[in-house]
Order: sequence, then structure tokens, then C-alpha cells
Amino acid sequence: MVPTMGALHAGHRALIERAVAENDRVVVTIFVNPAQFGPREDFARYPRTLDADLGLLGDVGVHAAFVPSVEAMYPPGLVTRLDISGPLGERLEGASRPGHFNGVALVVTKLLVAGLPDRAYFGQKDAQQCAVVRRLARDLDTGVEIVVCPTVRDTDGLAISSRNLYLSPEERMRALAIPSGLAEAMAQFDAGERDSSALATTVRSCLENKGLDVDYVAVVKADTFSEVETAAPTNQIVLAARIGNTRLIDVVRLGVDTAPVGRGV
Ligand code: PAJ
Repeated sequence: MVPTMGALHAGHRALIERAVAENDRVVVTIFVNPAQFGPREDFARYPRTLDADLGLLGDVGVHAAFVPSVEAMYPPGLVTRLDISGPLGERLEGASRPGHFNGVALVVTKLLVAGLPDRAYFGQKDAQQCAVVRRLARDLDTGVEIVVCPTVRDTDGLAISSRNLYLSPEERMRALAIPSGLAEAMAQFDAGERDSSALATTVRSCLENKGLDVDYVAVVKADTFSEVETAAPTNQIVLAARIGNTRLIDVVRLGVDTAPVGRGV
């Protein structure tokens, strides 16, 4: 199973192609999940491109698409909630988007129950979501193997996201501060810097220089999302920043990923 919210792009496609290569049968789910959007977020204007999405699924050889309605997923009278507690659910993305991971957890659980897959595929770009889903798959004894796939980037280094469609050409240029800031911090790490706040400051300065409004930059453990003072290989630099009305997130794995773009680009 590959859960998505549609508006499929090259990042989704990489997950789907890998799932097709590794499994006998693949179902892709397309559902813009109201439960994971905050009241002031972009649920209403989230891009919806179902015809093109189904075309792509056909091209890639997916066996089934599951495209439920909101009423089917959230029938009247539903009272069951899932609560992702502790730092994993409540820090960073969880703090900026209260209730977001509870909504993700509920829909992912419902999708896993609906499809009973052996494996489910998620993208490293949404690193905290990956950690939440891994944890819930274990906590709820689902028996589903969670497969995390690398972030797919445009040639200029920007992580591909449905929300990139909201950026004006000028904002799209300034957004490149994200991959270049991460690349700069990775180079610092590779040169021996282990102080997390120094690494985070490098990224933050790069974003602020281009007028991005930084929500957070942090160095975290991949599984718990607790912040570390001393950075080590496999720790992740995670960030969220706003450009105009568009909020973007990104992540790199220290000592694992190659830099998203050359330094100072
Ligand atoms: P959505 O944003 O549509 O993303 C679906 C999957 O594609 C997620 O696992 C996401 O991490 C992955 N993905 C998105 N952009 C990517 C990129 N550039 N490279 C690699 N993978 C990428 O994430 C969601 O939907 C929802 O929260 C969902 C899990 C479907 C629950 O509603």
C-alpha cells in the first residue's frame, strides 16, 4: 500500500514504482484527509488532480486505487481517536500543527485496516510522519512492514512537494535557501562540527537571509524526534519555514544522505 493525498508528483511516483517492484499487488490510496489539517490550513485549496493521478497509476502498473469519500472514512457518529503522545507527536511539526499527527495516525490506521497490506511505503521527506507511522505500526501490532523511501528532489535541490505549486517564481527561487542551508550544515558536520545549535544556526541564517520565516530548525534522533545537543551520524536536521503563505518542510540525515545541492548555491 502507498497512502497519498493525490496531486501525485515524482516523489509519490518513486514510492509507487518501488512498491510495484517489490510486491505482487499494490494499492495506492488517494484521500485528502480533513482530520490532519488545522482550521487555518490549506484543506480547501489543497490541489486535487484525480484524473491525472489515476492516469499515472495506470502507467506505473498499480493494481488498484482506493479513493474513499470523506463520508466513507469519517461516518457520522465516529468517536474513536488516536493520540500520538510525547515528543514524537507533540514537538516540532506536532507543536506547529496541533492534532496533525493524531489525524495522520487515525487515517493511516484506517487505511491499513482497510487494505491489510504486508508493506506500506512512506517518504523520508516527511520524516516525523515516518517516525509516527513506524511507531504506531508497532504499538498497534499491525504486522505491517513500514518502508521509508529517500526524498526525491528537483534538479535544483528543492524537495518535491504538492505545496511547491503554491510558490510564485520569485518564491520558488528563494525556497532554494532550504536545500543550500541544509547542504551547508551537512558540510560543517562532515568537517567535524558536532554542536547541534551551531548546525541549526547555519541553516537558520541561510533561510533568514532569503527572507524565509523560520518555524523551526532542529537536530533530532530519527526514531523519537527528541532533540540532541551533540549531533551524530543518522541524526536528522529537520526544518519548517514559510515563504509567503506557503509552509515547506525538509530534512537531511547526517552521515547518510548526500547533500541536496552544492554548497552556497
Ligand atoms: P502526501 O503528502 O500526498 O504524501 C504521500 C507520501 O509521499 C508520503 O509518504 C510522503 O512522505 C511521500 N512524499 C511526498 N513528497 C515526497 C518526495 N519529494 N520524496 C519522497 N517521498 C515523498 O503524507 C501524506 O500525503 C499524508 O500525510 C498521508 C500519509 C497520505 C496520510 O494522510
